[in-house]
Amino acid sequence: MSANNTDAAARDDYEDYDDYRTTDVLVVGSGIAGLAAALGAADEGADVTVATKATCPEGASSWWAQGGIAVSRNDPGQFKEDILAASADTADPEAVDVLVDDANGAVEDVLVDTLGVAFDTNGEADEWDFGREAAHDEPRILHVDASTGKHVHVPFLNHLDDRDDVEILDDTAALELVSHEGRVHGALLERDGEVTPAFAGATVLATGGIGDLYPRSTNPDGATGDGIAMAALAGADVADMEYVQFHPTVYPGGDDPGDGPFLVSEAVRGEGALLRNAEGERFMPDYHADAELAPRDVVARAVQTEREATGEVVLDVSPLDFAAEFPDLTAKCAARGVDWEAGIPVGPAEHFLCGGVDVDTDGRTSLDRLYAVGECSRTGVHGANRLASTSLLEGLVWGLRAGEDAADHDAEVVEAPALLDRDPDLPENFAREKFVRLRRVMGESVGLRRHPDDVRRAQAVLRRLKGEVDAYVRTRTSRSLYELRFASVTALLIARAAAENGESVGTHNLVEDPVTSRAD
Ligand code: SIN
Repeated sequence: MSANNTDAAARDDYEDYDDYRTTDVLVVGSGIAGLAAALGAADEGADVTVATKATCPEGASSWWAQGGIAVSRNDPGQFKEDILAASADTADPEAVDVLVDDANGAVEDVLVDTLGVAFDTNGEADEWDFGREAAHDEPRILHVDASTGKHVHVPFLNHLDDRDDVEILDDTAALELVSHEGRVHGALLERDGEVTPAFAGATVLATGGIGDLYPRSTNPDGATGDGIAMAALAGADVADMEYVQFHPTVYPGGDDPGDGPFLVSEAVRGEGALLRNAEGERFMPDYHADAELAPRDVVARAVQTEREATGEVVLDVSPLDFAAEFPDLTAKCAARGVDWEAGIPVGPAEHFLCGGVDVDTDGRTSLDRLYAVGECSRTGVHGANRLASTSLLEGLVWGLRAGEDAADHDAEVVEAPALLDRDPDLPENFAREKFVRLRRVMGESVGLRRHPDDVRRAQAVLRRLKGEVDAYVRTRTSRSLYELRFASVTALLIARAAAENGESVGTHNLVEDPVTSRAD
């Protein structure tokens, strides 16, 4: 960890910890939303500390984003309609207005002008090659091949790294928020087993998603819902937690170490790829008028149904020039020995949480001086089902807004939570076994299809599991234990929200028969 940024106004008799730091704005997480918050705050004159568990850019979900970043082009009204329709009219129109109104300006100012991201063009320097994805009325997705995330994320990290007013602490996990008299004053940060309070004028959570709560996910490891759990434990409101989005086309991988799963971007269907079952039949027209370009929740369920009925679903890429249009995905297939000309085997996997810490249009949570942005937040933009390629955009827009709003406060040094025994004296395999149990029950009972009996059973299992984890957390501090705690808290929030919502809508799909009686 680099040198502390202790300010002169800080309390000089602080004794509970060996050391502490102060900063105007503490950002927890280093995906596009966290980096945008850091930029927004620093541009307003704040000193910013970014604390991230990640040890490399690939540790953030944003790095993995394939399809791209949707913009409003010349028709924000149509963009808004598409977002609302994909969400089955459950998205918050006011939040959607913010997204579509800010989209073009944020992308141009930050991504193009400040970071110099070279989005694919049609030849002319400023003639973007807009891509099409499911449920978009027109091509409006800026992309770089099908690896847009890393082409945005790496220059963003480099840009902030070069600034004197932003400090990035990697391999540094936030374990708990520091709250005092109803206000959030920063977080306890852990690195190499050492725990240090970071006191901040404002704290921005940007911890990403929840992929580690499910057996199959497109998220990188470590997506344990940290920010959601920390905020909820501190008393912040969460909303829409039942809306967990599954991506329909993920290559599931095999048993060999080199044969790992990977996302096959919706952009491939946008260019004309077709879904076929094991009998070679194209089935999507039977499920929705927009066939392969139906909203993501519809396609994901259809793919799962056809897999169960016929044994396999493949993405037939013969209608397009796959190798020329998607060289990066072609390379992924080649590395795993997948013969894409015969169709790429695909199935659904957890991809994105539409809900999270409830925030307003500036990313403010229900707790004073606490903000949340990106996937850990619930802005209302996605409702029950997110439109493709709006997640990077939401992270960018809300990150900038929250950062600007958060910049205005000085850090105060207050009493931090007590430091517990640092000895991570856990029974061998404790965390691993609990994660296996947690993922199994989430996948079976709070997944793509849900039955109230299954969801209730999941709540009981998760409550027991959380109780076992909490017993250890009371006496020990270790990162893996806290990740398990965050995962169990977040899983329970999802299961509780799923149990309380009797309306089958979007990603919250209620079925008549218990899912646990079916084969996966
Ligand atoms: C994809 O490329 O299919 C993912 C895009 C998204 O999740 O928005």
